[in-house]
Amino acid sequence: MLGSRTISFLFLFATIFSAVHGCPPSDRAALLAFKAALSEPYIGIFNSWKGNDCCHGWYGVQCDPVHRRVADINLHGISEEPIFQKAHRTGYMTGKISPEICKLSWLSSLTVAEWKGISGSIPACITSLPFLRHIDLTGNKISGELPADIGRLSRLVLLHVADNQIAGQIPRSLTNLTSLAHLDLRNNLIQGTIPSDIGKMKKLSRALLSRNRLQGLIPDSFSAIYRLLVLDLSFNRLSGSIPASLGKMSVLATLNLDGNNLSGTMPASLISSRISSLNVSRNAIEGPIPDAFGPSSYFTVLDLSYNKLKGSLPKSIGSASYIGHLDVSHNHLCGRIPAGPPFDHLDSSSFFANDCLCGKPLKPCR
Ligand SMILES: *[C@@H]1O[C@H](CO)[C@@H](O)[C@H](O)[C@H]1NC(C)=O
Ligand SMILES: *[C@@H]1O[C@H](CO)[C@@H](O)[C@H](O)[C@H]1NC(C)=O
Ligand SMILES: *[C@@H]1O[C@H](CO)[C@@H](O)[C@H](O)[C@H]1NC(C)=O
Repeated sequence: MLGSRTISFLFLFATIFSAVHGCPPSDRAALLAFKAALSEPYIGIFNSWKGNDCCHGWYGVQCDPVHRRVADINLHGISEEPIFQKAHRTGYMTGKISPEICKLSWLSSLTVAEWKGISGSIPACITSLPFLRHIDLTGNKISGELPADIGRLSRLVLLHVADNQIAGQIPRSLTNLTSLAHLDLRNNLIQGTIPSDIGKMKKLSRALLSRNRLQGLIPDSFSAIYRLLVLDLSFNRLSGSIPASLGKMSVLATLNLDGNNLSGTMPASLISSRISSLNVSRNAIEGPIPDAFGPSSYFTVLDLSYNKLKGSLPKSIGSASYIGHLDVSHNHLCGRIPAGPPFDHLDSSSFFANDCLCGKPLKPCR
């Protein structure tokens, strides 16, 4: 007769045995199916993916130490790892991301980035992986759309899919990702509008949406994202005016709106804001440069070039504490360029192609 002690002893023994012997066969099978859908001819990253224990020695695979389940897949095509140095090149991979990875129910991090040739779409079933925190598929040839119910990934902190061929719209559910801190959708084919409730994503610190086909207005609600540090919306088809509320944000340091179709006047709040790198080049902004500079104006970059700005350079510009790179070229400005700091180091290209600006570094005023 087996006593309960014996049974718990056997149970403990079985637990230790499986811990020593690594990953469950179902995780191993899912990894092998993932590998089978890809082809990596130059580096040999998959050569180590053999034997039963996928938790030990499989390149780029990490298991959860407690549950002994696959937690991380980390395959980056640009790497200093010895196998890359030996091959003297960066990685290249073709094929697709197999939906079999959705069977890795403990997966927390999926990085398959900078392989240049991986195509197909993002398997929609990844939204059923409850522990996913990182998705990095940057630098491939992934097409299709972002999964419509991506908002289910309540633990997602990082979503990087830049430099692919992702089309369709930003899924409505995206703004339900209230843990997301890093969003990078740059350089894809994403169209439609930016969700007006984007301000729900309270943890966002970097929102990079440049070089897509986004249209419509810049949502006012961005200003509700207290932690937002970098907002890059450049090279889209955004229109309407720049929300003045963007100049009231407590930590926003970089705002890139260049290469859109923004109109209206320049909000004074942006000039006296905490933003240190502001690019609104190549839009259709009209009216004067606001006379709102002050000691809190500290710009490493202030690029207002290629707009329809009129009037003179504002008097207060001399009270800015720093302006590193100023570009007001290709506008309709007129009048004398103030002498002295903070921009007496600038050359004529900063002021070029206006209606009638004069004074150093341009021609003397008459
Ligand atoms: C966002 O989450 C809420 C609450 O869980 C849910 O009711 C809503 O349907 C979700 N929105 C979308 C577009 O999925
Ligand atoms: C601002 O954007 C323009 C147009 O996209 C770009 O050419 C320029 O280099 C940017 N300015 C700075 C200072 O980075
Ligand atoms: C830019 O916006 C104006 C209206 O502000 C519109 O008439 C024009 O068609 C837009 N241009 C592009 C290229 O979208």
